Amino acid sequence: MRTLIAIGIGTGNPRHMTLEAIDALNGADMVLIPRKGPQKDDLAEVRRLICRQCLTNPATRLVEFDLPVRDAATPDYGAGVDAWHDAIAATYRDLILAESGPDARIALLVWGDPSLYDSTLRIIDRLQAMEHLAGGLACDVIPGITSIQALAASHRIPLNTIGGAIHITTGRRLRAEGFPVGADTAIIMLDGTCAFQILPPDAYAIWWGAYLGTELDLRIAGPLAEVAHRILSLRAEARARHGWIMDTYLLRRLENS
Ligand SMILES: C[S@@+](CC[C@H](N)C(=O)[O-])C[C@H]1O[C@@H](n2cnc3c(N)ncnc32)[C@H](O)[C@@H]1O
Repeated sequence: MRTLIAIGIGTGNPRHMTLEAIDALNGADMVLIPRKGPQKDDLAEVRRLICRQCLTNPATRLVEFDLPVRDAATPDYGAGVDAWHDAIAATYRDLILAESGPDARIALLVWGDPSLYDSTLRIIDRLQAMEHLAGGLACDVIPGITSIQALAASHRIPLNTIGGAIHITTGRRLRAEGFPVGADTAIIMLDGTCAFQILPPDAYAIWWGAYLGTELDLRIAGPLAEVAHRILSLRAEARARHGWIMDTYLLRRLENS
């Protein structure tokens, strides 16, 4: 039986690779490296760098491929994501059948941890149900350092208040629904539009980080009223300079608000 191994690689620093991740990489017959277009070649380059630094098994083959792109113009977000996942699953199926034997171990290098805002495990579910692979594809998961842990470590903060809950959500939901009701701390990911701008600035503090773990690492923290404009300009400048940005932030209600 073939096995797909979803290996959490951390957020851009090869030293985020755990010993377990390095073992899994070296136990693979093949590593699939997705290319996400020229603007995001830095992300493929991190995976190549990890392989150069951590891979010592000469029998492990690296196979690069072009990842299908989501059609952002699809009006229904859920339907757009569904069609995109189908296209990715079909790409993986074709690669697996063409490039690997029936007992191969195939590594997928997943940014951060495979369980957090990542589609890999859902796509593996689809693959396991597909013709030619059904009944013949197992899955292993190796956990990795998430961007949330990278954010907390870079600011040297605990994520939660004492005994408090943490709400993890997306920029899209923050913009649509406002700050989560009943929460004192929210972590916002996948936010291309700085949705924190919808909040009353006097009521929140923010800990923001971009390119965490990489050499480009940027971070700003403080009351939203004081630092929001700095985040907006630094983010726009960095995105224009590098052609891509990934940022995450923690918002906390100020006590007297
Ligand atoms: C598709 S999700 C993947 C999350 C990943 N599985 C994890 O464990 O962090 C991508 C989002 O993760 C966050 N992210 C990933 N890498 C990051 C980094 N190096 N610095 C800041 N945020 C990052 C951003 O919010 C980005 O929009």
